[in-house]
Amino acid sequence: MLELRDVYKYYSVGRGWVFGREKVKAVDGVSLAVAGGETLGLVGESGCGKSTLGRVALLLERPDSGRVFFDGRELTRLSGSQLRMHRKNMQIVFQDSLSSFNTRFTVEEIVSEPLLNYEKLNKETARERVKEILQAVELEETFLDRYPGELSGGQRQRVGIARALVLNPRLIILDEPLSSLDVSVQAQILNLLKKLKLSYGLAYLFISHDLRAVEYLSDRIAVMYRGRVVEILPKRSINMPVHPYSRLLLSSVPVKHPRFRTNQNIYETKKGEDENSRFPADWQDPGCAFRFRCPHVIEKCSEEKPELLHINREQQVACFNISVGRRVVNGAD
Ligand SMILES: Nc1ncnc2c1ncn2[C@@H]1O[C@H](COP(=O)(O)OP(=O)(O)OP(=O)(O)O)[C@@H](O)[C@H]1O
Ligand SMILES: [Mg+2]
Repeated sequence: MLELRDVYKYYSVGRGWVFGREKVKAVDGVSLAVAGGETLGLVGESGCGKSTLGRVALLLERPDSGRVFFDGRELTRLSGSQLRMHRKNMQIVFQDSLSSFNTRFTVEEIVSEPLLNYEKLNKETARERVKEILQAVELEETFLDRYPGELSGGQRQRVGIARALVLNPRLIILDEPLSSLDVSVQAQILNLLKKLKLSYGLAYLFISHDLRAVEYLSDRIAVMYRGRVVEILPKRSINMPVHPYSRLLLSSVPVKHPRFRTNQNIYETKKGEDENSRFPADWQDPGCAFRFRCPHVIEKCSEEKPELLHINREQQVACFNISVGRRVVNGAD
């Protein structure tokens, strides 16, 4: 349903009077697809480009190059107004979606706004639809007249989800939808997201630092490192990643089967250490960005960037030294 082909998004940062401005490769050649009704989890350390990828997928920001398709239609070719109509199909929920909202709007006004804009519904019909959606996100009708400031964190997030749902989208990008919430509330919102996905046949791109939540909600998981997707694997293989970076990142997911418990200490760095300052990014570097931290580095890694290639029907990995990971798949490492 959603497909990104070789998408790039660089930002210029800093002043750079003398040598020109530095560039940050927020998204550095990403290709991936989300099928209808599917949840693709997107994980990776802070600053690796997850949110940028989400924004570019929705064309909230135009990519520098590359193409984005939705149902076979190329969104990157649409004009502003065509794109606007298309956005109905794709919505986004942020960490705290309501914070961008006018606090003087009631819940009803917030949730019905897209309906009045896009569907040109009259107020009565819109109200009925808003009631329906509030019910779907498990909020009572009495919330219609409340203001964002009168809601708990979990209730606000439910309203944010209601607003994303109201136009009947087919895909929702969830950008860390749980991270501003208490642990107990996180579980409730996660269950709600799962329920909504089934009842509305939604597809999600689920961006999260919470690996257990990702495992719970996702069908497949994409791992990002410094702007590139380094591995895509099915949920059931979450404990058997192949790329050295995914092995480091996903090693904190509890392993159910002892056969697949591996000793990951070789990858560990001191707690609290800022990885980005230890391994500074040079945006003109031609090689694999992970090679400074990788215990399996070979010469080729500093010469070019590995492409994301299928190692079996369901799993893709971008690593030149893939035999390293294969041993894990075989349980021999
Ligand atoms: N508008 C912008 N201008 C300049 N640089 C930006 C902009 N937006 C993002 N970046 C940079 O692009 C990189 C990727 O940012 P992004 O927000 O996509 O990361 P992220 O993976 O979502 O991180 P987090 O997990 O902390 O939310 C970062 O280095 C960030 O500083
Ligand atoms: Mg982010």
